[in-house]
Amino acid sequence: MTTITRQPTPTPAPAASTTTDPLQLIDVDHVQFYVGNAKQAAFFYAHCFGFQIEQVGDLTTGFRECSHYLLTQGNIRFILSSGLSPTHSSNMEVAMYGDGVKDIAFTVFDAEKAWERAVKNGAESAYDPKVYRDEHGTVTMAGIRTFGRVVHTFVSRTGAYELTKVKQGGLFMPRFRKVEGGPACPPTAPAAGCAPQAGPGSSILAINEQNRKNPCGLKYVDHLVGNVEMGKMNYWVKFYEDVLEFKMFKHFDDKDIATDFSALMSKVMASGNNLIKIPINEPAPGKRKSQVQEYLDWHANTPGVQHLALRTDDELHSIAALRARGVDFLTLPDAYYDKVWDRVNGTLQSHGKPEVKEDHKRIHDLGILVDADDEGYLLQLFTKPLQDRPTLFFEIICRRGSQSFGKGNFKALFEALELEQARRGNL
Ligand code: FE2
Repeated sequence: MTTITRQPTPTPAPAASTTTDPLQLIDVDHVQFYVGNAKQAAFFYAHCFGFQIEQVGDLTTGFRECSHYLLTQGNIRFILSSGLSPTHSSNMEVAMYGDGVKDIAFTVFDAEKAWERAVKNGAESAYDPKVYRDEHGTVTMAGIRTFGRVVHTFVSRTGAYELTKVKQGGLFMPRFRKVEGGPACPPTAPAAGCAPQAGPGSSILAINEQNRKNPCGLKYVDHLVGNVEMGKMNYWVKFYEDVLEFKMFKHFDDKDIATDFSALMSKVMASGNNLIKIPINEPAPGKRKSQVQEYLDWHANTPGVQHLALRTDDELHSIAALRARGVDFLTLPDAYYDKVWDRVNGTLQSHGKPEVKEDHKRIHDLGILVDADDEGYLLQLFTKPLQDRPTLFFEIICRRGSQSFGKGNFKALFEALELEQARRGNL
């Protein structure tokens, strides 16, 4: 690996293809985060969100500049990376932006050809194709720059490193190893009595076992949202159209996403097969500061990834499990639930779609948001920022036919966000 590290998240299984389109995106290979302390961050995402800390690449495996932790859940793959020297680029970026997403990596059939095509389409290269090889297979990576500090890496894999094998527990790439260790300390065992048996990875094995027994049910990355500067949304829309050959999937203007105080605009870009969806937000003028502008203010005035939406098949289970683990979610006023059922079920009835089947009282008790359109409904909820800076957060989303993004919730949601901005002194 070079200083630009990588690991992405997966999405629904792609069909094998004989396509000659070099920009056919097969999956989110991984999402790579630059963090201040990858070892500690791995425990945060494992404990709070139920990820398996599956593999490590560090000094013990031959990485001399940067350590990497592969976290997995369903078809989601996160790589948490930390530089091992003061001048490593990840440490410099963490100083600038705090912990956050560096790379949204896509699995393709041929990374070099995908990169060549993207560069020919007008992309700026982030780094040239590089092949990581051992006796088990190869992983080829090549990167292009996108908005702000974010990179898109193209990844192609052969042999033991094919994505289907990684999904089954195979090694992510050369110089990664599976987490190992002695038996975990039983919770009741005295530390002194247990220590001689416990190997170096035993605490990781213990949390992995705990998470296997108590899954949070997160399946794959539904969409990844970028925040860009005012007036730059259409520039990046054109970038995704020209460079990655995406098309516009949805469009929301400041009339859709505005409160009395603040506003934003958003266009949702999608890959040709609709597998990858990247909404691009820009702040819009309002009486007070847009949430997008707050993000930029605390992100060195640099565009970046605002949130990852993680898909579940059972929103109520996932939210209950995450709340039990201590995840902080945005809180909406009770008044939201005075109107939501008439709005949502009314929309569903008018389009001949089944009403919301989940228990309405539990939805209210768990603070989950609901929205509907002509195709069905969705359930969603947003965490508070995942670090002290008000930047990256997660959305937990379950779709029951709806392919939209919760437009009916925007006003209530952004009023809740403004309360949080005001608490931070940023409105
Ligand atoms: Fe979202």
